[in-house]
Amino acid sequence: MELVLKRVVDEVFVPDDAEYVAAVEDILYNETFQSMKEFPQHGSTSCLAHSIAVSYLTWHTCKKLGLRAVEAARGALLHDLFLYDWHTHKPEKGDAMHGFTHPKTALENAKKEFDLTELEQDIILKHMWPLTPVPPSHKESYVVCYHDKICSLRETMRRPLF
Ligand SMILES: [Fe+2]
Ligand SMILES: [Fe+2]
Repeated sequence: MELVLKRVVDEVFVPDDAEYVAAVEDILYNETFQSMKEFPQHGSTSCLAHSIAVSYLTWHTCKKLGLRAVEAARGALLHDLFLYDWHTHKPEKGDAMHGFTHPKTALENAKKEFDLTELEQDIILKHMWPLTPVPPSHKESYVVCYHDKICSLRETMRRPLF
């Protein structure tokens, strides 16, 4: 996908797509959300860039399939709002279960900042399925699961979406 990026604020770059930006703009300007730029996710990709990539791909897929694209894009933006560097989290905090625990942490953090719909909560809480055993309750949540894994793989291989 050829993407032209648009700078929203500071280090927040998103695809230059007015309809997408309008759907998620309040999240993009939220300082807690923006703080994800400080935390590396995979390779040289930050949690912030990872989340925007997953969200934008989810937006496109959901629109194509006639699913709830706005809620899905918003849930996807917040799916990894755990707010720490998971690479150093284990030695520093003794938490070896990041893969299992971070969806709940992300949901708690997201709830402090935004009024979340049931779908948005499902997306955040279930995005690690099937690593976490409870499956998603909605088609949109499966779309996020799928794009999260694709983006993670691409970023680990140093070939991020953008
Ligand atoms: Fe995650
Ligand atoms: Fe993720």
